[in-house]
Amino acid sequence: MLAAIFVAAIQELTGDDYSEAQQEAWAAVADDEAAFGKKLAGELTLIATVQNAPVGFASLKGNDHIEMLYVHPSVTGQGVGAMLCDALEKLAGARGTKTLSVDASDNALDFFRKRGYVARQRNSVTLNGEWLANTTMQKALGEEAAGREQ
Ligand SMILES: CC(C)(COP(=O)(O)OP(=O)(O)OC[C@H]1O[C@@H](n2cnc3c(N)ncnc32)[C@H](O)[C@@H]1OP(=O)(O)O)[C@@H](O)C(=O)NCCC(=O)NCCS
Repeated sequence: MLAAIFVAAIQELTGDDYSEAQQEAWAAVADDEAAFGKKLAGELTLIATVQNAPVGFASLKGNDHIEMLYVHPSVTGQGVGAMLCDALEKLAGARGTKTLSVDASDNALDFFRKRGYVARQRNSVTLNGEWLANTTMQKALGEEAAGREQ
């Protein structure tokens, strides 16, 4: 089910920034659903639901890196991504993380920028034989998180 959200989000929301071949290579990461599920199970994964159906998910890797954030195109722009991101930031902060990072796809740059993430480094990664660009962005987690640690 999460794999279907992953594939639909890539197919329908990233076409302005990535070629069809790149989108296919990216989406193919979920072809092996068992491996995809295992990867998510190994991270802290949150699922957003609307009327009992999953519509988006996000995962935190090692307490300080947002590994995945995908929202189904049918509910995009309704605050689901922001809610998931918010929850991961709170969890990471509660675990003492001072700086949260994400390798943001080009289409998600503005989403993260709006939330206070700053671009640090441009990367090229290979996925199933295609090169895809992304940007490592970082956000310093707030006073609230720092205060709780003391
Ligand atoms: C990026 C993504 C998770 C955003 O999810 P969403 O539920 O549509 O986001 P929200 O509705 O919570 O939007 C929050 C804010 O970001 C803005 N925003 C969302 N997507 C945006 C985009 N592609 N470009 C510019 N702004 C965007 C919204 O307008 C909103 O702004 P506001 O608070 O001023 O109203 C979703 O578009 C997605 O799954 N994209 C494809 C997969 C992907 O690239 N994931 C990121 C991998 S790092």
